[in-house]
Amino acid sequence: MKTTSVKTVGILTSGGDAPGLNAAIRALCAAGKNKYGMKFIGIRNGYRGLIDNDTFKMDKLDLDSLVKAGGTCLGTSRVKPFKNPVADPKTGLLPVDAIKETFKKNKLDALVCLGGNGTNTTASLLAEAGFNVIGLPKTIDNDIVGTDESFGFQTAIQVATEGIEAIRTTARSHHRVMVVEIMGHKVGWLGLYAGLAANADAILLPEIPYDIKKLGKFIKSKVEGGQDYAVIACSEGAINLEEAKLGKKDFKKARESMTQSVGFRVAKELEEETGIETRTSVLGYLQRGGEPKPYDIILATTIGASAADFLARKDFGKLVAMNGGRIEAVPLDTVAGVVKAIPEDDPVLQTARDLGISFGD
Ligand code: F6P
Repeated sequence: MKTTSVKTVGILTSGGDAPGLNAAIRALCAAGKNKYGMKFIGIRNGYRGLIDNDTFKMDKLDLDSLVKAGGTCLGTSRVKPFKNPVADPKTGLLPVDAIKETFKKNKLDALVCLGGNGTNTTASLLAEAGFNVIGLPKTIDNDIVGTDESFGFQTAIQVATEGIEAIRTTARSHHRVMVVEIMGHKVGWLGLYAGLAANADAILLPEIPYDIKKLGKFIKSKVEGGQDYAVIACSEGAINLEEAKLGKKDFKKARESMTQSVGFRVAKELEEETGIETRTSVLGYLQRGGEPKPYDIILATTIGASAADFLARKDFGKLVAMNGGRIEAVPLDTVAGVVKAIPEDDPVLQTARDLGISFGD
């Protein structure tokens, strides 16, 4: 066993859950224990549990049963301790001071935060505040900068691809246009990859504002060409030309006033434009629930086990990143607050264009 002064480590998962979280937790605990004799404290429900000292000893968990389990055995929340912080009415403590207490009470030498953009931004702020923290990248959205890969993404691609393929058969039978709405938050990685894999006719992304007239013309040309149905992969963050002109505040307002998600709007606009019956199917939480596929298990396990080495050598304030097939330590402050969007010259995007898939632009 190797020696390290990092003996007791807290673990939390925060933000939307993603396939692979449990595999990463299991790998971190197993590698940390076997290699360095570390002990792990589970923190329930993300930063909520860190503030409230809602913790338990992880040696009580059957770790091996976690490898393939979906969700997160720690629970999660979207609590952000540094966003509009208010003192607890009972204790009078601000979230950051309550977190100091949790560190003390549990004798934590370090904390591992598993999550997406928001989680790693908070992890960076904790590091800045003097806590020993490292971040692990999980997200089905693939929007974390500094790492080529985040676990959860590959599983979501497979689920979304199968969803689009299934919807194609009903679109074909009913001679309809089907708009399949795909998760991804503010970016279109999942929509692009699943759309390409499932051979969608058109893909709508937040990165490429769509012109409903151009999209309508494209769909009509498909029908005139003999294909009397179409499938559109539509990212939940897709925007039209008018929205692209709005400032951040006005865009937020416009989105908040929408009573249905964007896929329904696209279907309505498109039906008006083409006269072809158009329906919407939202794939929703299927995309992030359930068991991780083997690729994500391996990725999450490698990242999780590597996190034990980061902890042992006190490489704090870092994201455990996977770049070019290698584990890298990426400073959390370079990841914080940045969203990885699809660049114009992305090869997958270019490939989809080369195949004649429309982006409505
Ligand atoms: O970030 C993952 C994600 O699943 C996004 O794709 C989606 O926009 C969001 O979370 C949904 O989150 P919630 O669980 O808060 O509805």
